[in-house]
Amino acid sequence: MNIPPSLILGIESSCDETAVAVVRDGRAVLANVIASQHDLHRKFGGVVPEIASRAHIEKILPMLDEAIDEAKVSLDEIDAVAVGNRPGLIGSLLVGVSAAKALAWAMGKPLIGVDHVRAHLYAGALDAGPITYPALGLVVSGGHTSLYALDDAMTTRLLGRTIDDAVGEAYDKVAAILQLGFPGGPIVDRIVQQGDPRPRKVNFPRTMLDNDSLDFSFSGLKTAVLYHVRGHPVGRGPSATFERDATSLNDTEKADICAAFQQAVVDVLIAKIDRARARLADAGEVPRSLLIGGGVSANSALRQRVIEYGRRNNLDVRVPKMGYCLDNAAMIAGLAHQRYVAGGFDDYALEAIATTDLK
Ligand code: KG4
Ligand code: ZN
Repeated sequence: MNIPPSLILGIESSCDETAVAVVRDGRAVLANVIASQHDLHRKFGGVVPEIASRAHIEKILPMLDEAIDEAKVSLDEIDAVAVGNRPGLIGSLLVGVSAAKALAWAMGKPLIGVDHVRAHLYAGALDAGPITYPALGLVVSGGHTSLYALDDAMTTRLLGRTIDDAVGEAYDKVAAILQLGFPGGPIVDRIVQQGDPRPRKVNFPRTMLDNDSLDFSFSGLKTAVLYHVRGHPVGRGPSATFERDATSLNDTEKADICAAFQQAVVDVLIAKIDRARARLADAGEVPRSLLIGGGVSANSALRQRVIEYGRRNNLDVRVPKMGYCLDNAAMIAGLAHQRYVAGGFDDYALEAIATTDLK
């Protein structure tokens, strides 16, 4: 097949990162700029939707300028404008979608809407070789923890997902319980890496659900950490009080808890990947690649374990480069190339939608 070359500008604004990227032919990233809003949300311990939308409005045009500068291209050379239009915070998505529509209209170029979760599964192709399908995909982020079978970049089948907390959410909550800061994932990861390698004293449960389940559950683990740190609650619900808090722990004790939590998380993720691979193989759909995406794919322990797992099981493992793990627009522009070559364009009725369309 003769694949047309493409230069695609991508926009991502689904949560608390305002990002713009320019990607050639779906894989060569010429620019990937990201304005993070973490400083604005930190004092609230989580993302505040109204603050996020307002910050996107302030940042979107400067980010567009910066991306075009960094890519050393002119706007006339862009072949299409892509935008993550789902899932996410609706007010945040609307900023990116409106900007993308305005730009596409002004430039007379096609508009391409992309699902953010599907884009996370594509991030391992950026600045790398093409992905070989069929593939097994795991999205681990602040909003999602799901396993997919992929026939190609656009054709996905949901195999399992979290029935309660997403894994990134569990990281953020555990960091909050330990009073470590926000967002919690990178902080917990760093504390574990800096800790000493002696055997740890703490151990937390691995929730596997039914024997053949490909779903995940992390709320029990989070509660186990909560009780371990704060003792048992007195009373119920939001008015419950606890025996103590994280101020009674020293740094070594906190590091032990982080390490035990992370070990439990990664063990469960690897076990479920293994179950899913076996399930697909039994059905004659042996995956050739293992795709990991989403903010938690930046986690050092997870990266190491999936790479080892892939080596043992003859899978081409795609853990994205660090800059493409967290929310970014390169993955949006990269995946949009798949639609571009198929002529799959959207019109100006493209909507911002809070939920993913991945089945
Ligand atoms: O993909 P992402 O940027 O946003 C969503 O789509 O949710 O993921 C953000 C999540 C946060 O929960 C953050 O704590 C987590 O990814 N995260 C990590 C690491 N870096 C970010 N979790 C574990 N280890 C990390 N190194
Ligand atoms: Zn994301």
